[in-house]
Amino acid sequence: MEITYYGHSCFSVKIGQKTILFDPFITPNEKASNINISEVKADYILISHGHYDHIADAVLLAQQNDATVVSNYEIVDWLSKQGATKGHPMNIGGHWFFDADDNGTKFKVKCVVAVHSSVMPDGTYGGNPMGFLIESAEGNFYYAGDTALTYDMKLIGDYKSIDFAFLPIGNNFTMGIDNALIASEFIKCQNIIGMHYDTFGYITIDSVEAAAKFQMAGIDLQLFNIGETKTI
Ligand code: NI
Ligand code: MN
Repeated sequence: MEITYYGHSCFSVKIGQKTILFDPFITPNEKASNINISEVKADYILISHGHYDHIADAVLLAQQNDATVVSNYEIVDWLSKQGATKGHPMNIGGHWFFDADDNGTKFKVKCVVAVHSSVMPDGTYGGNPMGFLIESAEGNFYYAGDTALTYDMKLIGDYKSIDFAFLPIGNNFTMGIDNALIASEFIKCQNIIGMHYDTFGYITIDSVEAAAKFQMAGIDLQLFNIGETKTI
């Protein structure tokens, strides 16, 4: 699968003919000033929770790409009132099959628990925060959103084999490196892509130390450069 990093917790993953974009926060992110927002593609925009650093560019990118917003009911409803009119509301525990191409191939999105908070930028209730488990013919992956380490992650590891996972590693607002290592064990995944680090002062990490800790545990930690595309 082709993965592109747009900074903070924003990644796109291409499945079949479709591009899934997670948690767009690009134009307000000084670290992502090399990204031309008008070139960011998305067929689906998946949003883990209502905080500004996860939805800032959701309406713009939904309109620009005629993309479908997938999130909890409260966030889909709020974004529809801001102009992102194509939405698919879900909630934790549910799954849905979305088109990976125009020939009937699907990928599966399952909403899973995240331990965090969720409120929209204007104070509107933002529902429960969540993560996403994506299953496709090309592989399975887990996008954790903003979350603490939680024992519920063991359910994900028992439920499906995970080829790679996006985990927050920046600490302070989410789990940090040490807890992300335990999370990797809970979900039984050897390929971790770090997110939610270095964007703000509170979440600055020592990436050399992070790499060393993961290497000691025999788990691969990938830290993308902003704008970088890799195939996993
Ligand atoms: Ni958050
Ligand atoms: Mn956040």
